[in-house]
Amino acid sequence: MFVLQHGTVAASLVEQYHQPTRRPGARPRVSRVKGPMTLIKGKVALITGVARGQGRAHASRLAAEGADVVGVDICTQPDHVSIPGATHEDLRETERLVSRAGQRFVAHVGDVRDFGFLRSVVDHTIAEFGRLDIVCASAGVWAISAADGAVSDAERAGVWETTIATNLMGAWNTLDAAIPAMIKAGNGGSITLIGSVASMSGQLPMDSLGSRVHAAQMGYVASKHALVGLMRSYALALAEHSIRVNCLAPTGVRTAMSQNEIVEAIGERHPSAFDVFANRMPIDVLEPEDVSSVLVHLVSDSGRFTTGVVLPVDGGFLLR
Ligand SMILES: NC(=O)c1ccc[n+]([C@@H]2O[C@H](COP(=O)([O-])OP(=O)(O)OC[C@H]3O[C@@H](n4cnc5c(N)ncnc54)[C@H](O)[C@@H]3O)[C@@H](O)[C@H]2O)c1
Repeated sequence: MFVLQHGTVAASLVEQYHQPTRRPGARPRVSRVKGPMTLIKGKVALITGVARGQGRAHASRLAAEGADVVGVDICTQPDHVSIPGATHEDLRETERLVSRAGQRFVAHVGDVRDFGFLRSVVDHTIAEFGRLDIVCASAGVWAISAADGAVSDAERAGVWETTIATNLMGAWNTLDAAIPAMIKAGNGGSITLIGSVASMSGQLPMDSLGSRVHAAQMGYVASKHALVGLMRSYALALAEHSIRVNCLAPTGVRTAMSQNEIVEAIGERHPSAFDVFANRMPIDVLEPEDVSSVLVHLVSDSGRFTTGVVLPVDGGFLLR
């Protein structure tokens, strides 16, 4: 159905079936279909983790497809996380990209672990736009560090709590804040949780058991697995409202989370540490935009009957 909105397809149909009779010398009539194809025109999307990386790519792409974007990011360095955090400058760049696509961008700086904050974001969104159609929970942390040796008990607990609270509870908070407003608006909708190939597979240790890296890995893989249970339960509960809930499972993506000095330091210490991230297709990492393309399918009419699935974007990673 959506192809009829596609400028090129619609234009060719016009040519094929509605050949106008033209006076000789008259200027050719043009199709009334104008502008680029937009798959989600008029929709409003809430994206967490929007300041950089995949969240930014999703904001930019959904805007290019016609959606206004409400973005959430903490824009600071979370405790127990060593990979450098996003900044306000990063968030401004996302705003610039959405504006360049001709769409509105409303930014909220805050923490997805704070349910009250997310409720106020949704209240503000409804007051401003009157609707909320698309939710993408992308905010996440990977609390690896360059530190060698055994992790202290306190740090081990801190790494676990931060990871679970951000990656899992943050997503849960985002859904619970958004869903009442989506149901009330009565427009259906699409919710996507950004999982990982770690949602569907165990991870071999990249460093010794009992190390900080290992604690971070275990928290990460547990949080990403748990997102699948959350997704399936919400998909069941929301199907009757035509609100779809899915999980995207990317392999390694070229963002600050995977491309940084900490990852390099671990790689130098354990040259085979990152063998666990090898893909079957001849590609080391995806670009964030590769994930955005699949997100567009899920949140637009092209994926209108897809709900309750984990969709890998993984170059064959999970085929092992
Ligand atoms: N990069 C990868 O290789 C990879 C692979 C698979 C899945 N993922 C997942 O993709 C998602 C996006 O990661 P990315 O690759 O864009 O990394 P990123 O570090 O570039 O982006 C994560 C964003 O989340 C924000 N964030 C972190 N904690 C937050 C909090 N408490 N509240 C609000 N915002 C917070 C950060 O500030 C940052 O802007 C994450 O859930 C990640 O786990 C990443």
